[in-house]
Amino acid sequence: MRKQSIFLSFICCFIGFALCAEFNIMDHGAKADGKTDDAKAFQDAWTAACGSSGPATIIVPKGDYWMGPLKFTGPCKGVPSITMKLDGHLLAETDLNKFPSGDWVYFGWIDGLTITGTGVFDGQGASIWHLNDCQQNEKCKLLPTNVKFMSMTNTVIDGITSLNSKNFNFGVVECTNFKAVNFKVTNPGDSPNTDGMHVERCTDVTIEGATIGTGDDCISLGQGLTNVHISKVTCGPGHGISVGSLGKYPDEKDVTGLIISDSTISDTLNGIRIKSWGNSPSASSVSNVTFENITFKNVNNPIIIDQEYCPGGACANEVPSKVQISDVTFKNIQGTSASEVGVTLLCSKGLPCKNVKLQDINITPSKGAAPLKSTCSNIKALYTGTQVPPPCP
Ligand SMILES: *[C@@H]1O[C@H](CO)[C@@H](O)[C@H](O)[C@H]1NC(C)=O
Ligand SMILES: *[C@@H]1O[C@H](CO)[C@@H](O)[C@H](O)[C@H]1NC(C)=O
Repeated sequence: MRKQSIFLSFICCFIGFALCAEFNIMDHGAKADGKTDDAKAFQDAWTAACGSSGPATIIVPKGDYWMGPLKFTGPCKGVPSITMKLDGHLLAETDLNKFPSGDWVYFGWIDGLTITGTGVFDGQGASIWHLNDCQQNEKCKLLPTNVKFMSMTNTVIDGITSLNSKNFNFGVVECTNFKAVNFKVTNPGDSPNTDGMHVERCTDVTIEGATIGTGDDCISLGQGLTNVHISKVTCGPGHGISVGSLGKYPDEKDVTGLIISDSTISDTLNGIRIKSWGNSPSASSVSNVTFENITFKNVNNPIIIDQEYCPGGACANEVPSKVQISDVTFKNIQGTSASEVGVTLLCSKGLPCKNVKLQDINITPSKGAAPLKSTCSNIKALYTGTQVPPPCP
């Protein structure tokens, strides 16, 4: 069977039919037994696909593939597109010494990559999480990201799962036209720093349809973003959907044009949030951000702007945040809060928030009958329609 398929694909590709450019991982020596190192089969299939002259498909059939870091880089030889049809369960090495860089599976400098299928990137992080001391140690060594996309253009990921990542699940950095649909992230609620998808320095990003349960932000939107649309996300457990944290490093780029809509957030530490640090080394801005049609179930801090962000609680925040927040809309937001304060708008003393609108907000306590409160500083928010909890005085 296998010999025959190798023979057929050889004949097809030899004749030069672009449609036949299929590269099955099994034909490149994968064992798929969950214990033999299959990295070389993946790398060889990638080299072949990336070097072929038409569109190419890499096939990863069902099975367990164990390996350390994988690196898939372009640009590919005149290839307008590479599809990875991923149905296998990829298992990550657990010896951290085997990870020279901060990533497990790395895709970089590729134009037109699609990853689709029912496949799983299983970071096997459970035995590693206790080594994460970043909350206490500023100079901590970052643990590997499960799947990193770096400097990619025209990328689609569809259907795949990230499971038990050691650190972030998906990292999306310096990408243009990145689309993630119907993907899944599954990590326990107490796994440290396991953001579901972190996006930064990207333009034109769509996240549509995602089920994310994890130990940190379901989605975190970092510096340097333009035009990001997020919708139909189910988040929880986790820390909610966050813009930031921002203002920690020098020369961060501005964030503008975010729409986060039609999502449900349950049993999380925060709901929808914009967070920036004090003592920012340089100035930047967040503008034109819309949160619309969001439902909360038993969420702490459902709506929160926090410009005195300080996880761990030991920040010298004597200089107020230099991140200017403006033109932010919270519209049609409803559900229940686990914390007493439903709306927290804590803006920078040095740069008060400008033009923040709340329209049709209806957040009630998830337990007990005491009405919720709003807390504000350095902001004059604009209120229209229903306002539960009542606006800041
Ligand atoms: C705000 O951002 C959205 C989404 O990127 C964009 O479509 C819209 O044109 C922006 N509006 C302004 C005034 O820049
Ligand atoms: C919010 O929901 C309304 C009603 O379904 C819809 O018309 C609107 O487009 C949604 N907003 C966004 C930003 O998708």
